[in-house]
Amino acid sequence: MPATFTKSALMLSLLLGLGQAHAADVDALAAAHGIPHPAVIAHRGASFDAPESTAASYKLARDLGADYLEMDLQRSKDGVLFALHDNNLQRTTDVASKFPDRKDSPANAFTLAELKTLDAGSWYNKAYPDRARASYAGLKILTLDEIIDIAQANAQHKPGLYIETKEPQLFPGIEKDLKEKLQDRGWLSPAGSKLAKSELGVGQGKGKVILQTFEKNSLELLQKEMPQVPKILLLWVGEGSIEPKSKVTFAESGEKDKATYYAKQEPKSKAEFQQWVEYAKSAGAIGTGPSAALTKGGDQSYSDLVQPWMNQYTHDQGLLVHVYTIDDAVDYQKVTDAGVDGIFTNRASELLKFYKRPAAASVGQLLQNNGY
Ligand code: G3P
Ligand code: CA
Repeated sequence: MPATFTKSALMLSLLLGLGQAHAADVDALAAAHGIPHPAVIAHRGASFDAPESTAASYKLARDLGADYLEMDLQRSKDGVLFALHDNNLQRTTDVASKFPDRKDSPANAFTLAELKTLDAGSWYNKAYPDRARASYAGLKILTLDEIIDIAQANAQHKPGLYIETKEPQLFPGIEKDLKEKLQDRGWLSPAGSKLAKSELGVGQGKGKVILQTFEKNSLELLQKEMPQVPKILLLWVGEGSIEPKSKVTFAESGEKDKATYYAKQEPKSKAEFQQWVEYAKSAGAIGTGPSAALTKGGDQSYSDLVQPWMNQYTHDQGLLVHVYTIDDAVDYQKVTDAGVDGIFTNRASELLKFYKRPAAASVGQLLQNNGY
């Protein structure tokens, strides 16, 4: 056995077995899982600059140099895995005009052929006229297969996939379906295989896929199906996750917006937070994905679950922390100072600059290169 292997095996056993990972060790912990440190996770692609979860968004994130393409996985009525965040199609497609009688139906009530008739880009042009592009009109909902094609298509940089089982109780068996698809596409190949030999980037190595979920049951099923693939348990304060100190609902609170309400929500106790981290570890996760309170507020701002003591506790368990979802430099700095190991962001271009890994070309140039 080579000496280097012995040394890294010893380090990993210290980190994972005995816990007590200190700041200097976290780099080694991430490296042991094949995960960049710190990691740039492009949330629904480069979704600040292009319609979320579309080819424009994922190609841009890839070409900017993001480590991971993040997606929310669902399954069509006819069994095809595709990416969409919301349960229904109203916010991000023209379902109301194409299928007026079914506009409130869940996305999984549509076949892939029906989903593919929808325009998943024009809503963005209306919502963000300052970033609108005529070429976004008519963009399609993407299957997992199509996102894998995008991830593999840039010879210079191959990002990994960071896949969330979204509302998994709606999709019995989706964990197995996901395993079969990843296996079929060669994304579950072990280190040392053809894919893993390349040194081109995260998408070629051991940490090329990370699986994420808020749901304990789904985490356990993912662990059963794909024990070798790194997993993250997503955390927030609220139903199905960390129990809050106060049971007052947003409606009862009288707060002016949800961000203000969530900013005041905190775990019931220190032990309540710790027990979720401990559960994550016992269920096979290699880290947690906690929420953050954002300086500007807004609809991505939740409870602050990346306080330094929380990150330290998580590291002490031998787990990583990937925080969601942060777009502003002031917050990148804040959560970095607090000790996180990676950030979900809609603005991969800005996070890459923050991490001193700026893209070689501008957002506008890269969009143009891809025909947008
Ligand atoms: O997956 C991490 C983060 O994306 C969780 O929030 O609602 O954007 O999926 P959401
Ligand atoms: Ca997600």
